[in-house]
Amino acid sequence: MTKIFIANWKMNKSRAEAAEFFSRFSVHMQSDAPVSGARVIVCPPYLALDTFAHFQESLSGVELGAQNVHGAKSGAFTGEVSVPMLAELNVSAVILGHSERYQHFGETPENVRARATAALEGGLTAVVCVGEREADYRAGRSEEVVLDMLRRSLPPPSTHGIGSLVIAYEPVWAIGTGLAATAEVAQSIHAAIRGELKEQLGDAVGEALPILYGGSVTPDNIAGYTAERDIAGALVGGASLDPDKFFDLITRGSKR
Ligand code: PGA
Repeated sequence: MTKIFIANWKMNKSRAEAAEFFSRFSVHMQSDAPVSGARVIVCPPYLALDTFAHFQESLSGVELGAQNVHGAKSGAFTGEVSVPMLAELNVSAVILGHSERYQHFGETPENVRARATAALEGGLTAVVCVGEREADYRAGRSEEVVLDMLRRSLPPPSTHGIGSLVIAYEPVWAIGTGLAATAEVAQSIHAAIRGELKEQLGDAVGEALPILYGGSVTPDNIAGYTAERDIAGALVGGASLDPDKFFDLITRGSKR
């Protein structure tokens, strides 16, 4: 199965810094060790999205993603951007429901579902995040919390483009902390997510949808995750900011 590696830059990098990243990253991607069998998506801040256009040829295997999108096509929603606006910039994927959106911006699973549905219907890959907080993890409630979140944020089965859905399991306590979940713990939650996806969307779709792990993923621990049956790749924050490091992570994570 194709492994997926998504760079989530969050609110980092100016346009000039994004250009520096793309320039260096393109040298790696064109090197003598091409990463075949990996889907690579880079999600810069909105304002650096069009910087990617200058590197499209040298980064032909790399996709552009956004970090959020509104559910409506246009309208009175100050501060938001829509699916058609992203599509105009050749954005092919979008992260939805990142825990930082829940924590700082009041997003809800129902809101994430509306955004994800619009993204899929508009032809984008929708990367829907789920994950439990530390207190729930300590109380042994990870699976229960994650599945509840998933049920509430999952687009309806009839959604056009549902096959382009990607789920990212990101335990909140593992994000940016250096305390990554072990591959075994992640795999067990991924298996539960897989079961729920099959139940909600049918066996064929549920079995095929990629489930990524996110939370303190580095070049040193990536191979442990991608060796697991239900871990199709990673959503990477900190380790995606440096082009050398991110390329190293992709190389190690896509080795069989
Ligand atoms: P991290 O962030 O890799 O820095 O832990 C992951 C994320 O927030 O998607």
